[in-house]
Amino acid sequence: MSELVRISMSLENSLMQAFDEYVRLERYPSRSEAIKSLMRQCLAEQAWERNQLVAGSVTLVYDHHRQGVMKRLTDIQHDFGSVIVSTQHVHLDHHHCLEIVVVKGKAARIREMVTIFKTVKGVKQNSLVMTAIGKDLV
Ligand code: NI
Repeated sequence: MSELVRISMSLENSLMQAFDEYVRLERYPSRSEAIKSLMRQCLAEQAWERNQLVAGSVTLVYDHHRQGVMKRLTDIQHDFGSVIVSTQHVHLDHHHCLEIVVVKGKAARIREMVTIFKTVKGVKQNSLVMTAIGKDLV
């Protein structure tokens, strides 16, 4: 853990009150923890915008009875094997499957895969969670 620094800042009282309510509702233990968490999220998003080495997950929900959907999703994942760490498949109910694709690699390549997932008919949900890789988690 690196050395701690203290900062002070000036802001409108109304903004502080609204933020304190956010901290309470999100159940952060303190303002500092909330601000650190939000700063890390901003840095991760910037790493994605700058096409750096990043990590994350893609959650897909689809109806596996739909013609060709499973084959198409598997073909895409084979094409993007260089950025896929693992895939977990869960049978949600009689019709629906949920897949969590854990990714690590250049942001643009991962975004390309997510965009291609969107072209597959039968995919009902396609959500990307963007995180930083370990060395950037300051
Ligand atoms: Ni399934």
